[in-house]
Amino acid sequence: MKPIPYGRQNITEEDIQAVAEVLRSDFLTQGPKIDEFEKKFAEYIGCKYAVAVANGTAALHLCTLALDVNASQKVITTPITFAASANCVRYCGGEVAFADIDPKSYLIDLNKVESLLKKNPNSYKGIVPVDFMGLAVNLEELKQLTDKYGLWIIEDACHAPGGYFVDSKGTKQNCGNSNFADLAIFSFHPVKHIATGEGGMVTTNDKKLYEKLLLLRTHGITKNPALMHKNDGGWYYEMQELGYNYRLSDMQAALGISQLSRADEGLARRKEIAARYDVAFKGLALTTPLSDKGHAYHLYVILTEHRKKLYDFLRSKNIFCQVHYILVHTLPYYQQLGWKTGDFPNAESYYERCLSLPMYPTLSNEDQTRVIEAIKEFYTTIK
Ligand SMILES: Cc1ncc(COP(=O)(O)O)c(C=O)c1O
Repeated sequence: MKPIPYGRQNITEEDIQAVAEVLRSDFLTQGPKIDEFEKKFAEYIGCKYAVAVANGTAALHLCTLALDVNASQKVITTPITFAASANCVRYCGGEVAFADIDPKSYLIDLNKVESLLKKNPNSYKGIVPVDFMGLAVNLEELKQLTDKYGLWIIEDACHAPGGYFVDSKGTKQNCGNSNFADLAIFSFHPVKHIATGEGGMVTTNDKKLYEKLLLLRTHGITKNPALMHKNDGGWYYEMQELGYNYRLSDMQAALGISQLSRADEGLARRKEIAARYDVAFKGLALTTPLSDKGHAYHLYVILTEHRKKLYDFLRSKNIFCQVHYILVHTLPYYQQLGWKTGDFPNAESYYERCLSLPMYPTLSNEDQTRVIEAIKEFYTTIK
């Protein structure tokens, strides 16, 4: 039987054509496709500025650099995320603090965040909330809290292009639109909604931060005569900050543009798959994820008391599920910094039971049936 992965890219002939066109053009990098991708992505998300970068991790790093994170600062995030959401603070020498999750949504618990802030009101500089699985963090509520204590927000929206929450005025707030966050980031890794191989994006409504991101993305170098101290001629540039080469190539941007044109289609299919799982698992002794209209369903995570057995059973049938994530505070690097198992009981209880089922737009109905039937079979054998 053919293998079914938990996630995979959806590449069409149009995508291939778009990349081939760039390969025949004058610019493989630093060409016109970058600007086009940024403008179209900003429009899709509903923000003013977007900066295309090499990957989601580079996006996070540029954000912590732009916000001047340093060794004297503490930043809060969730233990249930990919390590990069925390590592970006460490890249700048800052200290990472974690707040436990809400056991129903699996998102960072704002009450836990508030407790941290109340206990040490002047200790924290910022927070990196994660729209985990594609479920939006309510950033309006978070911002009310962070404003009281003077924290910035970097929204990690890697799982959530097209996701949203509804604010107190009944307005849809798209993940990453930066109406509440200072900066937001996305990843275009192949399992994500939009795939460019490697790739990422930072979004913001803040012009100053936008200009800083542009500078830091390209070595801290500017060629803008208005910003330079002197100008020796057409070849001249100035390196004004210590930046990086975190650029995306034009081949990748062209793929991103083509993928973006099908983003709504992919999102609708993900919602369809989730709805079918929701119905199929009714009556089984497992927990299905919180359903929400604004859920972008990067992942479909069930909780089961038999995680390892179910994982192995599905694997024996060539169905490859995944666990998201190994908790960041239990990774050896973070344990060495003083964190230990037992620090975040809700996240740890989640981790013991979570399993991400196959979820991607090209998952066929037949393949989804195979997944559903296998899980039902497993539950008939388990006592
Ligand atoms: C929540 C989250 N943050 C950050 C990243 C980092 O993105 P990338 O793999 O593009 O560097 C990922 C991707 O795996 C992610 O899932």
